[in-house]
Formats: sequence, structure tokens, C-alpha cells
Amino acid sequence: PRYFALIPAAGVGARMAADGPKQYLSVGGKPMLRHALDAFLASPLIAHTYVVVSPDDGQIDAVLPPAGVTVLRCGGATRMDSVLNALRALQGAVGEGDMMLVHDAARPGLTPALIAKLIAGVAGHPAGGLLALPVVDTVKRSTAAEAGPGAAVGSGSGSGSGPGPGPAKVATVPRDGLWLAQTPQMFSYALLARALGAATDASAITDDASAVEALGLSPRLVEGHPRNLKVTLPADIRIAEMYLAEPQ
Ligand code: CTP
Ligand code: MG
Repeated sequence: PRYFALIPAAGVGARMAADGPKQYLSVGGKPMLRHALDAFLASPLIAHTYVVVSPDDGQIDAVLPPAGVTVLRCGGATRMDSVLNALRALQGAVGEGDMMLVHDAARPGLTPALIAKLIAGVAGHPAGGLLALPVVDTVKRSTAAEAGPGAAVGSGSGSGSGPGPGPAKVATVPRDGLWLAQTPQMFSYALLARALGAATDASAITDDASAVEALGLSPRLVEGHPRNLKVTLPADIRIAEMYLAEPQ
């Protein structure tokens, strides 16, 4: 098969709370999105790179390298919509059996070596696969029974952390077998289009692999690297810059 990169970059970066979308913030001297584009352009395994932005995006042209990237202006309301709209736009240009590497614009630490590791690790696996990291922290689940003032303190977005009137029920989730999903995530064009097209609950689909899992398939996990973190909150920019200053 051929290998194509697809970068969803149509988000607004609400949690970053910057002036504009986070993919255009400067990280280590270039716009965040440019790092991901450059990693794919530097990989000899990638046939072409596509980026999907919002139809009213006014910043993408200033970020593009001189050649090698095609912009799709069909971003949607959710990440899933952006990826699915892009796949539909690529129908015909990409073969059913070609592989799509879908990568967050918000992960500037990707390297050609990680791209090669993913492709080698997933080769021949019909359910595709993704970069991921084993969980190293002790993981707690907090479940509040009823609505009311929160029992768990903080502004985290976790759905289990309250609100609840009484003490939350807290338990430790064995971290054995737990992984944190990264991107790129790689699937054949046909499988990814089928999986995202069949997804009904967009809020449950926070990555591409979860849509494939919902079909009853098990994508392969390939160990990624901490430098491939997703930049979500303001402090993540400095962590990303620390990794970007390191040799790849
Ligand atoms: N994304 C997208 N279309 C959307 C939402 C997100 O293409 N409607 C992209 C983002 O641009 C980003 C990737 O999906 O590259 C991962 O999403 P996330 O980190 O959540 O970015 P945002 O949605 O922009 O951030 P937030 O959730 O804080 O608003
Ligand atoms: Mg988001």
C-alpha cells in the first residue's frame, strides 16, 4: 500500500485559551502545525500529506512548506467530523487499501523515526494500530452517585469526578495493561472510513482507534515516545519545546 498522512487541524483550542487556534501558536520557533508537517515531509515512507482545516481558516497558507502538502478546507464540528469529511474529500485520490496515518496537529514532537516505527509495527495487521504509551502513574476512578457540589476537587474535565453531594467513591484502577493513546493512528482508508461512518456517539470517539474498536476490532499498540505529547494546556508548550530542543 501507499502511506498518506492526514492531519486534522480544525480545532479551536478551547483548553489552551489563547488568542487563536493552538495549532498556529509558535513552539520552538515555528507554528505548532508546521512541526507535524515537517516530520511527515521528512519521512521517505509517506506518499503525500493532507491537512484538514476549518472552512474559514485564514492562517494555514502562511504555515505551509513550499511543496508537498494539500489543504482540505472541510473541517467539522468535532475531530471525528474533520477526519471523516477529509476522507470523503479524498475518495478516489486515495485507494481503499492505502493506509492513512491520522495525526493531531497538536503533537509537534513527532519524528520520522516514530512514523517508521508505527508503520513497521502495524504492517500486515488488518485492524491497524497506533502509537501509545504505557501508563506510569497510579490511576484513580472517582464516581459520585448524585448531582450536587463536587466531592472531587479541581477543574479537571473527567466525567467521573463529580458533581456529587456525598463523598465520591474512589478506587484504584490497576494500571496493568493501560496505555495512553497517541497519534499517528494508522488504518486502511476503507476501514477508517467505515469505522467513522458507522460511529453514532461522536463524544465517545476521541480518537480514530476508538471508532475501529467499536466495530469489534483490536488495533495494535506500538510504543510511542513522551516527546510526542499532545499540547492541550498552556504549560504543555514549554514541555514540547524541551523535547524539540533534544536530538531526535
Ligand atoms: N480537531 C479538528 N477538528 C475539530 C476538533 C479538533 O481537526 N473539530 C483537531 C485539532 O485541531 C487537533 C486534534 O484534532 O489537532 C486534537 O484535538 P484537540 O487537542 O482536542 O484540539 P482542540 O479541539 O483544538 O482543543 P480543545 O479540545 O481544547 O478545544
Ligand atoms: Mg478538542
